[in-house]
Amino acid sequence: MTPKTFKIKSFGCQMNVYDGERMSELLAAEGMTAAAEGDDADLVVLNTCHIREKAAEKAYSDVGRLRREDGSKPLIALAGCVAQAEGAEAKRRSSMIDIVVGPQAYHRLPEMVAEAVRGARPVDTDLPALSKFDAFPQRRRANPSSFLTVQEGCDKFCTYCVVPYTRGAEISRPWGDIVAEAQDLVDAGAREIVLLGQNVNAWTDDKRGLAGLIRELAKIDGLERIRYTTSHPADMTDALIAAHGEVDKLMPYLHLPVQSGSNRVLKAMNRSHTAETYLAILEKVRAARPDMALSGDFIVGFPGETEQDFEATLQIVDAVRYASAYSFKYSARPGTPAAAMEDQIPPEIMDERLQRLQERINSHQLAFNRSKVGVDTEVLIERKGKHDGQMIGRSPWLQSVHFDTDAQVGETVEVTLVAAGPNSMGGAVRQKVAA
Ligand code: 5AD
Ligand code: SF4
Repeated sequence: MTPKTFKIKSFGCQMNVYDGERMSELLAAEGMTAAAEGDDADLVVLNTCHIREKAAEKAYSDVGRLRREDGSKPLIALAGCVAQAEGAEAKRRSSMIDIVVGPQAYHRLPEMVAEAVRGARPVDTDLPALSKFDAFPQRRRANPSSFLTVQEGCDKFCTYCVVPYTRGAEISRPWGDIVAEAQDLVDAGAREIVLLGQNVNAWTDDKRGLAGLIRELAKIDGLERIRYTTSHPADMTDALIAAHGEVDKLMPYLHLPVQSGSNRVLKAMNRSHTAETYLAILEKVRAARPDMALSGDFIVGFPGETEQDFEATLQIVDAVRYASAYSFKYSARPGTPAAAMEDQIPPEIMDERLQRLQERINSHQLAFNRSKVGVDTEVLIERKGKHDGQMIGRSPWLQSVHFDTDAQVGETVEVTLVAAGPNSMGGAVRQKVAA
């Protein structure tokens, strides 16, 4: 029977969130409706992530849990990077899976659902360039802060990372398509657009680069804020850095993963930067935009990482004074060069280093938040808070800010930041910003 209701569960990165929204729009265009929270759905799409440990096992156990009490089950589509990595193997590992659809084949989902209804178990993990974006319906719904994928894939081949294998080679969406989608999102209520890509600053459809694209998007009336993520140090051009000093709508926040502070480890990771070249980039960024909030990613326990290497990571955290940062224990990914390296680090050492690193990052995060107490700024309201009249939004520096107001979701309000916590700020409203 053709499914009437669907549910999409996205895990992992923001690009999966974007893909989940687009799949949802595609299924809605076919006449299906999204099942309400807590309700059963006829079709469940598990949009999975493969970046770290036991991703595949987790996906199969999530599939298993979709069995209903009466023994029946919904139609199940395995999507995302686990689907890409496992391919047809997924059908052998779980008889409950009806559809296996990789990240470049989502435009085929409705047709694959129809095939599955007829009893087939279709698999599509081809990696053709771009066609999925052309097949998605026009954007008619938006969040105040909306994602827009402009680039996918990665050609950098860091030795620990599965992305070049699961998302394929770098591709850039065309300039015109991106500008049109941004306009549609703003028409549908978006006030902020977050440009997404595994290597978003490697976007190359036009010689003006990501900086040129940002300048073009900044011309859209009603669009108040632009952000982009995730960037690679190798693609942090002077033009992009200059845009931070010149384009008011470009927010003062940069997520620029370094991964380690040790040049020896960075080399083994096949990162193209050293600690020194990375810090030099950030110096230029801060010269262009002195109040820039900096963020990054770190891996602890990469094969061969010594205590001295790890100390160098703590040192770079102190040197940068991150406003926020994400840190992960190294996880050997099958098929990546690092998985075959000698000197894999024991889990207890990884745990201990991760804890020390997170303590250090947290102290800088709190210091950054405290440095903003007393500052007058603008907050874009993204959702309701815990109690009546409370709203939660983001400061320009991506801090979560909560405050009492009668303003609504999607409005930008002038706020004084009055309290700092480790993960959020308290604010007091001054007034709504005139539209
Ligand atoms: N193990 C641990 N962390 C990883 N990341 C990517 N691959 C791995 C891995 N094998 C982290 C990196 C990257 C972020 C998205 O995930 O820090 O920037
Ligand atoms: Fe993975 Fe490195 Fe590419 Fe980032 S730049 S997606 S860490 S291979």
